[in-house]
Amino acid sequence: MMWTSHPVTKITGTLRAPGDKSCSHRALILGGLAAGTSEISGLLEGEDVLNTGRVMAALGAEVERVGEGAWRVTGVGSSGLKTPNVDLDFGNSGTGSRLMLGVVAGYPIEARFVGDASLSGRPMGRVLDPLEQMGVTYEASEGKTLPLVLSGRSDLRAIQYEPPHASAQVKSCILLAGLNAEGETVVRESRITRDHSERMLRGFGAEVATARDGAANIVSIRGGQNLTAQETLVPGDPSSAAFLAAAAMISTGGGVVVEGMMSNETRDGFYRAASLMGAHVGAEDVGDAAGERLIDMSFESADLRGAEIPVDLVPSMIDEFPILAVLAAHASGVTVVKGAEELRVKESDRISAVVNMLRVNGVDVEETKDGFIVQGCDGAIPGGGLVETHHDHRIAMSALVMGTASQKPVSIDDASMIATSYPDFMDHMQALGADLRSGPA
Ligand code: S3P
Repeated sequence: MMWTSHPVTKITGTLRAPGDKSCSHRALILGGLAAGTSEISGLLEGEDVLNTGRVMAALGAEVERVGEGAWRVTGVGSSGLKTPNVDLDFGNSGTGSRLMLGVVAGYPIEARFVGDASLSGRPMGRVLDPLEQMGVTYEASEGKTLPLVLSGRSDLRAIQYEPPHASAQVKSCILLAGLNAEGETVVRESRITRDHSERMLRGFGAEVATARDGAANIVSIRGGQNLTAQETLVPGDPSSAAFLAAAAMISTGGGVVVEGMMSNETRDGFYRAASLMGAHVGAEDVGDAAGERLIDMSFESADLRGAEIPVDLVPSMIDEFPILAVLAAHASGVTVVKGAEELRVKESDRISAVVNMLRVNGVDVEETKDGFIVQGCDGAIPGGGLVETHHDHRIAMSALVMGTASQKPVSIDDASMIATSYPDFMDHMQALGADLRSGPA
């Protein structure tokens, strides 16, 4: 279904951030493994997360929705996961599938992992290789992709592993397998990636040791630890809030407050990059949830200037490059993104999808191997293009945000994937004053 975003002059209002996708997956997974009943509130009810809930239920946990964003999960505890009698279907979710490969690895069961066309094209070797070192066997499709059948085992070997890519999914997969391995599993990442698994594992009663060695981050977990049910309030998602923030920054009349957002240095790269480009970002402490700090953040119209995005910010803004590209297109001057080759293996090839999104809307942009270079339009993005989203939710949302401040409307070929991560996106944007309509311009 096509959607079109028509230009507006004001983006204003106050909203509560939707639940964080990463934390929502982890709350269902850890709740499903723990002994006892966990109560989760603020869960993101996006398709990706709901699939993880269905998978945990297929593996023996009791997963029940008790209200809006409120879920009750009774974990398998010491009786362990059972062999599922259905395929484990992760839909579009790299996070759900990669984390669950690590979970299933530690139990003597066999499970078939499947997903949609986009997920079935994404590399799983990055988690299958270390899991194989730990002792699992698998049969995967060509190129180590889904569909695949994984055979876990109860005598998994602990490993010491240095992932070749900065990836929280890989780190988390190995830590979750390590929870059921014999000995101490150690992951050494050359640059820290989002650390929600470490924080939430601790919240569920596991001991997880972390240490820094310069920019490197070392995480260790001893096998054979049991998890205990918890009450978890899922913090607001800084990746989803980035769309609202960007809409305010590029608007001539922008003033948006997003409440209850997670503040975590492994996730705030977009906000730091936007500040480097001249945005004013306000933050007020409002407590904590799920081992994370919570803040209310405010955003307003800004005179944005292009910038060279520091490479060391890349892991902490890995999902935000499509929306950063919209800021870059709106800004004056040149923005350079490099060191972001991981974008090629996200829900779409996000480097080429971003470049096309800007180009069809009249923005001068150059594609590079590991990023892109944008010539800013100094507040006057021409617009008028139809963006191919390649079934990528973040391309779809970025293009619609761009349309709010372009000279002509911006259309997208398909809005359905937005439901994977931010089902309330259209409602939230409309509440702030965006003019979004189904159909072509
Ligand atoms: C995630 C990790 C990131 C991110 C994804 C969520 C997670 O992926 O892109 O949206 O919850 O661990 P990578 O680990 O592949 O960078």
